[in-house]
Formats: sequence, C-alpha cells, structure tokens
Amino acid sequence: MAASALGFAATRPAMAAWLEATPRQPAGPFYHPMEPLSVDNDLLYHQDPESRADGEVIYIRGRLLDQTGKPIKDARIEIWQANAYGRYNQPRHANSNLPLDPNFFGFGHTLTGPEGHYRFRSIKPAPYPDSSEWLRPPHIHFAVIPEGGSPWSTQMYFAGEALNKRDFLLGNLPSDAARERVIVDFQTTENAPDARAKLGELDIVLGMPGVTRDKA
Ligand SMILES: [Fe+2]
Repeated sequence: MAASALGFAATRPAMAAWLEATPRQPAGPFYHPMEPLSVDNDLLYHQDPESRADGEVIYIRGRLLDQTGKPIKDARIEIWQANAYGRYNQPRHANSNLPLDPNFFGFGHTLTGPEGHYRFRSIKPAPYPDSSEWLRPPHIHFAVIPEGGSPWSTQMYFAGEALNKRDFLLGNLPSDAARERVIVDFQTTENAPDARAKLGELDIVLGMPGVTRDKA
C-alpha cells in the first residue's frame, strides 16, 4: 500500500551526521626537541609570572571529536609556534636574524576534558621565511595524541591573512572546504576570558585512515 510505504519513509530514522575530518598537515621541522615537563596550556607566560611574552594575546579553544561527533576525552593536544617576531624557540630554526623572546617558550600542551574540550592562551605568531621565495603565513602547529592512539598533526591559520593564499602547504589541501576547516576567524568577544583579546575556535575532527561512511 502506498500509505504504509509513505509511513515507513516518514518514520525511518535519520542517518547520523558524519563530520568531515580536519585535514592533516605535516608537523614540520620545529617540533620542540626537549621533554616539555614545565609547560602547560598558557604560552603567554613561561618562567617569570610577571613577564609575559611579546605579541598580541589570543585564546584558542575547541573540541576534539571523531567523525560521528563523539567527543574524544583524555587526548593530549600539543601546540608549537613561532614567536611575535617569526622565530621558533628551536635550534633548527635557521633564521637566526629573527629575535628570540626570553618570555616565550613556544610550546604548550593540555588534555581534552570529558566533552573533548581543550583551550590555550598564547600570542599570535608572525610570518617567517621558509625559503627566499616562501613566506609562511602566521600559523600554529597542533599535534593530537589520543589515548592509546597514534600522533596526528595539523596546522591552524588565521582568517584574513593575505599570505594564506600563497602558502604552499595550505594551497596543497584538496579544496577550499578543507582549507576552511583549518582557517580560524579570531574575534574579540564577550565570551573570551579577556575581553581585549581575540578568541578563535577550532574543532578538530579526527578521521580514521581507511574508514569511510559506508564502512563505519
Ligand atoms: Fe611552522
């Protein structure tokens, strides 16, 4: 009967949302070489609680999810980045003409909470030359280490930066939609812990290699 067919169609449960995975990006050469035992999720201050790092203060927060939207808790999230002058606190950074900031360690980590939340406070990094012809836009490296899982990495970019359009790594992502998933629009907001600082939100969706919607 047509009526029962319609009825079946009307009551069929909706297919669960399947989130697009955040694109992976290479960790690059400037991952911190030392065991970071003394750092946390606040990169604004390092050893001296009275001396903050140079640069524009930013807050980053978001959630770590799998592709079904389920939060991933107790995962370690690490970030590392250049300072306000474009210099990494890393011996391998060859641009020694760019100054180090003694109050900026450049590396932080945290654990995701029960609902997958994480947050950091830091400063906006400056661009830096990767070669004579390639100026990297401001970006922050992320590594995610799920409990019992394999390390995963990406890079987060800032919306509105002209250099984004010329970046080799960002341009290598397969689509504008993929690029949008790692470009964050930082804004001042009353919801920020500090109303003068900008807040950016990056939800990270971990894809599982070899798993598609059909097989899940
Ligand atoms: Fe970098």
